[in-house]
Amino acid sequence: MIFNRNDNLPVIALLGAGSMGTAIVRRIANGKRILLGDISEASLESAARDLTASGYAVETQQVDALDRASVTAFAARAASLGEVRYLIDTAGTSPNQSSPEHIVALDLVATAMAIDIFAEVIAPGGAGLIISSQAGHMMRLSDEVEQQLALTPTDELADLDVVKHDAVTSSGMAYMVSKRANHLRVRTAAATTWGDRGARINSISPGIVVTPLAYDEFRAAGEGYQAMIDASPARRVGSSDEIAAAAAFLLSDEASFITGTDLLIDGGVIAAIGAGRYTLGG
Ligand SMILES: NC(=O)c1ccc[n+]([C@@H]2O[C@H](COP(=O)([O-])OP(=O)(O)OC[C@H]3O[C@@H](n4cnc5c(N)ncnc54)[C@H](O)[C@@H]3O)[C@@H](O)[C@H]2O)c1
Repeated sequence: MIFNRNDNLPVIALLGAGSMGTAIVRRIANGKRILLGDISEASLESAARDLTASGYAVETQQVDALDRASVTAFAARAASLGEVRYLIDTAGTSPNQSSPEHIVALDLVATAMAIDIFAEVIAPGGAGLIISSQAGHMMRLSDEVEQQLALTPTDELADLDVVKHDAVTSSGMAYMVSKRANHLRVRTAAATTWGDRGARINSISPGIVVTPLAYDEFRAAGEGYQAMIDASPARRVGSSDEIAAAAAFLLSDEASFITGTDLLIDGGVIAAIGAGRYTLGG
């Protein structure tokens, strides 16, 4: 059976076919061709099986977000399938899953690299979405450091003092800096490479969203997360479907005046910190 007889379907490229990524894709998938990319064959298989069972046109490619050649090949595959209208990048890790070095490499440098590489293939009128984190709103960096994170060429990012061993002394700190860097790289790309192509790019900063990644966090630091939930105005965790609803809006033409910005979706955790209702590490 051929489920869709239309030619020239717009392409969605998803880098990181995990929980949030697949929820976002499912939300916008109608009438589009989907390319899923992930380092894990198991994640690719299960995401492709679920989406195919719902009748969507799905292809997969194993890709290592840390490897420039691999991401370049993934972007080229996306372009070979049709007009690349959407990039969604959720390839990332969390503080309790990884070392500071791995977090900087994946959440900061690799994300910046994907933004660069997809700037070469995104279609005019296309839209990108980077999944950052509420952690990117948790620490203040100096204007000078923010400028460096925003503008340093991607292959020199890992040499910045702010991400070196003695500056990011914990995985938590590496995660906060990396996720803040996501906002800054998105802002720069929106104004330059992506904007010059007539494409938009934004980020979403989720709070605690229940996924396997979040369960790893709860297992390692459950009490801290419970205190965060209890102090937040929403008094609950979020779901991938809630992130997907906002993502669908940001990726749609209704958001065509929105680019270079970050949408914090955290149930008010950052607001609670600002109001003194919750202290990080407290
Ligand atoms: N779940 C949360 O509470 C939460 C909160 C804030 C931010 N985030 C961020 O959201 C993003 C998605 O997280 P999720 O909760 O959906 O987790 P997830 O583990 O379900 O998804 C992440 C995916 O990235 C893939 N990946 C990891 N390394 C890769 C690599 N080198 N190359 C390609 N793919 C790779 C994993 O295999 C996985 O499928 C991450 O960047 C995470 O930091 C999550």
